[in-house]
Parts: sequence; C-alpha cells; structure tokens
Amino acid sequence: MSLKKYILDLRKRREKVQQGGGEKAIKKQVAMGKMTARERIKALLDQDSFTEYDLFVEHEARDFGMDKKELHGDGVIIGTGTIYGAPVCIFAQDFTVAGGSLGLMHARKITKIMDHALKMRVPLIGINDSGGARIQEGVNSLAGYGEIFYRNTIASGVIPQISVILGPCAGGAVYSPALTDFVFTVDKISKMFITGPNVIKTVLGEEISMEDLGGARVHAEITGNAHFFANSEAECFEQIKKLMTFIPWNNQEKAKAFPPKPPKFKTPVEDIIPADPREPYDVRDIIKAIVDDSDFFEIQELFAANIVIGFGRMNGQTVGFVANQPLVLAGVLDCDSSDKAARFIRFCDAFNIPIITLEDMPGYLPGIDQEHAGVIRHGAKVLYAYSEATVPKITVILRKAYGGGYIAMNSRHLHADFAFAWPTAEIAVMGPEGAANIIFKKEIEEADDPDAMRQLKVKEYKEKFANPYVAAAKGYIDSVIEPSETRQMLLHALEISGSKVDHRPQKKHGIPPF
Ligand code: HXC
Repeated sequence: MSLKKYILDLRKRREKVQQGGGEKAIKKQVAMGKMTARERIKALLDQDSFTEYDLFVEHEARDFGMDKKELHGDGVIIGTGTIYGAPVCIFAQDFTVAGGSLGLMHARKITKIMDHALKMRVPLIGINDSGGARIQEGVNSLAGYGEIFYRNTIASGVIPQISVILGPCAGGAVYSPALTDFVFTVDKISKMFITGPNVIKTVLGEEISMEDLGGARVHAEITGNAHFFANSEAECFEQIKKLMTFIPWNNQEKAKAFPPKPPKFKTPVEDIIPADPREPYDVRDIIKAIVDDSDFFEIQELFAANIVIGFGRMNGQTVGFVANQPLVLAGVLDCDSSDKAARFIRFCDAFNIPIITLEDMPGYLPGIDQEHAGVIRHGAKVLYAYSEATVPKITVILRKAYGGGYIAMNSRHLHADFAFAWPTAEIAVMGPEGAANIIFKKEIEEADDPDAMRQLKVKEYKEKFANPYVAAAKGYIDSVIEPSETRQMLLHALEISGSKVDHRPQKKHGIPPF
C-alpha cells in the first residue's frame, strides 16, 4: 500500500467507528430529544479543540452472543479539549452503542481518562447516558464501576469533577456522579435512580413514573443530588462553561482572574433590607449589589432555597458566597440547607476560593421532623466545614444572628478572618420575643396586663441585646459598618488575606459528621 492508501484506510476506519451505533440508533436518540455523544462533546468544548483517544477500542466479551457483536468505541468516547482555553479531560457515554452500557473496556477507557486528568491536574467532565452495568459482561462491569468510584474518590479535592446526566444513570452507576463536585441535569432527559419503577413496583407495590422518581426536577428540587437544572442540553452546556470560568484547574491553582468590574446593580444596599426586621427580602439582591458586574452564579438554586450558595467575583477574583435567604423559611438552617452549605464550603476550601458569608437567620429550624431527620449531625457539618476551612473567610451579619446559627455561620469563634456587622444586626442567644417569654416569665405572668408587660420586656431585651454593639464591645465583631461600605470592606479584607497561611495539626484526615 502506498502511504496515501494507509491514510485513506485510517480515515475509513475512523469514519466507521464515529458512526457509533448506526443510523437507526442515532435516529432513536434524536427522537428522544437527545444529542449524540459526539455532538455533545462538540457543543461543550472550544471549537476544534477535542482530541480523541481509544477510538478503536473494542469489547472483549464472548458470552450471550457478544462475540458476534461489534460495539464501536465500546460505547464511550474519551479525550481532551479546552473550554475557554482551559484544558479538560472528558468522557461521554454513547447510548447508541449497546445503550451506553458499561463493560470492561468501556470502563477502562473511562478510567484511563480519569487517570490522565488526575496526573495532568486538569478538570474531569463525565457525560452519563447509559443503561448501567453491561449485563452480558457480569462481574467485569461491576469491577469497572468500582475502579471508577475509587478514582472519583482519590481525585476528590485535587481536580474539579463534573458529572452531566444526559440520559439514564441507574443502579450503582449513580454513585460516580454522587462522588463528584457538580452534577448537571436537563429536564425530561436526565434520569437517576438506584432502583427503577419496575423494581419498586415488584418489591413495594408502589407505582411511579421514571420522571417522578428520578427526573431532573426531582434531583434539583427534592433530593439535592443535582446542582444544576437546565431546560435543554444547549442551556446545560452554557451552565458548565460558565462554571468553568469560576473554578481553578486543580487544588494547587487559583481560579483565573478577570478584569475587575464595579457592580451593575444600582440599588443602594441599604435600600434592599426592609426597615421592619420581620419583613423578608431577597439576599441575592445584596450579593448582586456587592459582586463585580452584579454577576452571581448560583448553585443548587432550587434545592434548600433557605440558603443561597454560588460564585461571584470581587476585583476580578472568584469568591464563594454562602448567604441565608430570608425569603424562604426566614433563612433558617435545617438538614438540607446545612448539607448544601457544608459541601460548598468544602469545595471552596479545597480549591482555594475565599468564602464570604452573609448572615441573617433566626437559628436552626425547630421541629420533630428535623430532630428525627438528624438536624444535629447535618447542622454539625456546617460547623465542621467552616472550622476546617483555611481559605480566607469573611462574614457580614446583616440582620439576625441568633443562637447556634450565629456560631455556625462562620463566626469569629470558628476562626473567621473578619467578621463585620451592619448596624441592623441582632446578635443574641435567641430572638427578643422568645427570650422575653423565658427570662421574664414570672413578671409577665404576675403583671396586671401580661401583654403590656411582655411588650415592655421585649423592648428592654431588644435595647440591651438585639444589636451588634454587645458583640462589638467584646471584639467578636471586628467592625460595625454602614451597608454602603460593605463592598469596600470586603475588597480590603480579601486583599489583606490574599496570602493567608493557616497550618493545622498533622492528621490522616478528619472525620466530618455525615
Ligand atoms: C446491556 C443494555 C443495557 C445493559 C440497555 N442495553 N441497557 N445492554 N446491558 N445494562 C441495550 C439494550 O439491550 C438495547 O440494545 C440498547 O441498549 C438500547 O436499550 P433500550 O432498552 O432499547 O432503550 P430504552 O427503551 O431507551 O431503555 C433504556 C433503559 C433500558 C431504561 C436504560 O435499556 C434498561 O432498563 N436497561 C437496563 C437497566 C439496568 O437495569 N441496568 C443495570 C443496572 S444495575 P439493542 O441491541 O436492542 O439496541 C447496575 C449495577 C451497577 O448498573 C453497579 C455498580 C456498583
């Protein structure tokens, strides 16, 4: 063969494999409203940046007629590319090839790109669209999953790991996304569950559709397994690209700095908070009034909305925001919001992202449901995550900071680097009404007019404790600031803590409350 012939032969081979499961399977994929694995990679990565490996890998299964089957690329595409110029490793399961099911070689391809990502210290993106363990390959498929879970764990906190659920992701397969940092879902396309509707019906007699059991909305709103919800695959890819601009390549780097921009949001911060401390407001407006370009990228927006988490930039540098949301349940901490905040704090800490905490909350949510759901151990995660974090940690108390909530929301006592408070801050063991009812119980009961006495005692308590000055007098608050000074104070605090060093005792690892 002449050299040209070799080249033509290679091209023909490539073309054949790149057809995945063939025309019929691709038509079925499109009919389900889904892109193909190749289209997804192309849509997500910078133009012409994708380089593929292991294109010619074939399965080695011989049982159940598999010896006669050709599975192109063994149902998964792996490679490297860039997003806004930043390198990433990526795999995308190809549902058109044996339902994207995971056999031995399929798993080997995924673990190869995972090893590459870890060694090269670049983010890993996994697009999941698969019927799960390839049934014909038995224990080899299970072994493959185990190898993936192991690598997810070893890479955790070293490189960012992103999972995109664009089809079924069922059975034990769901544990790989669950071990990663961010899970992206698309309405009507993503499906995640441990056991599907059929098994549930057989074992428990309960009936539920796949969508209601493990659709995107369920995971974005109820379970908290998903961090992002999109209405289309194109929207999902835009979300991923935007996330990538806020995070570093690995735990030795900082996120890329952007040119500083003043906030676009023009409402003065003090005009956002209502005069009546019982009135709610949207804490996201405060964040937008503070961050560069008013660009706040919220994470888990639909889950545990009583706490808001996400990224923004201050003077061009990424920061993580954790903020109580007075609009929802008065911004209390409960099981779900504690989990949400704690995990985010740990991500920021692992990847050198300073944390700004905005506090306005009456404490932990009381109730039998919460107590029995384990609010003690869930709530403890927030204390653990803040205490453990060594990145710059800055708190601004906007309004209420009561009880355990005051301590948990990155107080100075958990070694916040800076704690500021607005003059509207109320820092005390509990709210004035509750406190007056307990400590003045006798006086109120014995008064001729108990209601008038209660009001009097509430006022007395408020004047004495429901302000920032008692805490400021003890140095627990570094500075009581005017709301309009907030951005400037934060910028200064971030600048001062830019080369922060905080060494901890040597240990194998801590044992956080799970
Ligand atoms: C082998 C599979 C497969 C699997 C799908 N296929 N899942 N092949 N092993 N697990 C094949 C089908 O045979 C079919 O091949 C092609 O993929 C497309 O599948 P369809 O069923 O036609 O597609 P659809 O109707 O869209 O249904 C998709 C599905 C369904 C809901 C995912 O295929 C399904 O229920 N699959 C089995 C899911 C499952 O129980 N997996 C095991 C989970 S346990 P042809 O040749 O006809 O095109 C698990 C354990 C992991 O994963 C443990 C890790 C610790």
